[in-house]
Amino acid sequence: MTDKLAIPHWNRREFLGAAAGSAVVAGSVGPLLAADAKAPAAPLREVIGPVLGHVDHASAHLFCRVPGGLEVTLVLRGLDGQVVSRQTTTSSAAHDFCVPFAIKDLVPGQTYRGQLSTSGGTNLFGEENNDGQFTFTTPAAPETPATVTLGLGSCVSSTEFDALWSQIAAQKVEGFCLLGDTPYIDTNDLARNRAARRKFWGTLPTLRTLATQIPFWNTWDDHDFGKNDSDGLMPKKEDIRQAFLEYNALASYGADDAGIYTSFRRGPVEIWLIDDRWFSQTGPSWADPAQKTCLGEAQWQWLQETLKASTAPFKILCTGMVWYPKGNKEKDHWETYSAEREAMFAWIKEQKITGVMLVSGDIHVSRHHTYGPERVGYPLHECVVSPMHASVIPALDVQHPARIWSKPEPNVFLKLVATNKGKKPKLTATWINIKGETIHEFEMGA
Ligand SMILES: [Fe+2]
Repeated sequence: MTDKLAIPHWNRREFLGAAAGSAVVAGSVGPLLAADAKAPAAPLREVIGPVLGHVDHASAHLFCRVPGGLEVTLVLRGLDGQVVSRQTTTSSAAHDFCVPFAIKDLVPGQTYRGQLSTSGGTNLFGEENNDGQFTFTTPAAPETPATVTLGLGSCVSSTEFDALWSQIAAQKVEGFCLLGDTPYIDTNDLARNRAARRKFWGTLPTLRTLATQIPFWNTWDDHDFGKNDSDGLMPKKEDIRQAFLEYNALASYGADDAGIYTSFRRGPVEIWLIDDRWFSQTGPSWADPAQKTCLGEAQWQWLQETLKASTAPFKILCTGMVWYPKGNKEKDHWETYSAEREAMFAWIKEQKITGVMLVSGDIHVSRHHTYGPERVGYPLHECVVSPMHASVIPALDVQHPARIWSKPEPNVFLKLVATNKGKKPKLTATWINIKGETIHEFEMGA
């Protein structure tokens, strides 16, 4: 090995500290798609990553992109400098030169440092790619009491609002969930899906650095599944899925080459990223044949099995689409699939699944709903968090009996802090804007 694989100088970038003091972007812009389209047509970055994906107490996943069919070598070390994993993979045009890595047999609660390098002389991972360096800390083992801080958000600009990522870093989130329209793609063309995902991971400097430091989980909503208000009848959806798999590093993606649903456990929290697109409208609902399905049979089976098996005090069910009538003429909200939603809630109540909370995005308004105890046997909260860009839709600030709070606020993300270290598990949900201001907050137990 060359000395490029020596333990990197990690103090060179005091990233989190710098992020906390970074400038704030204020004001609003026009419609997001127009803003992204107006951005200078900078050539797409050839080398992407390292980008961390799923990290749990025993494994870590990441990907990178290097052009030209080069070999990429990953070396992972513990803090004692010992090499715990060394892997080499070759990039290929078949996967748009994206290279996934999966590392197993890690130890809970440990910090690891990794280095990517390319074959053939100069390492293509230069300064713009954090010199190929990445670091992550595995969470505690699932049954160990712990406190975890996670970020969630939807509707993101690939080219603007880097300062929001600085705020996310300043909040010391240990991982981030992208809940759809992350990014906007609006086509089913494979090359354009790949290009949009390259642009997303390769443009904003703080996001690029953050992706070398914390895990990112992703799902899609409509704009990253073909077009506005899209559904499972989308032609060439296999191509959209292929680009998603190439440019994310999750532990699993649906089953049998269908869908991208996945879940992960971190401390006292388990998060389900439910696929609300792949199966939607593709046939009659398993809950009521008079309605079309949203989840599909296989995903519903998976959801039941994994919810039943979960020992997490807090179980967060996420979809891009909101869990109540959205308030416009589009069909992509849970009221369209009310039979499946009500069957899901009835099953949760019957099975006495505790600690469930809903999260959604999509509507360019942030909201907090409490549905009361009749749905699942205890107060059911929904957090709507949207948008991370600045284009709000005040018309979707609609009335609803469950509404506690609602605000068309630009540049928002949700911070969840959950702990089971005390006598009773506690979760705090906080909506935070680009200035770092708390715009709403609540607490729940389990
Ligand atoms: Fe959106």
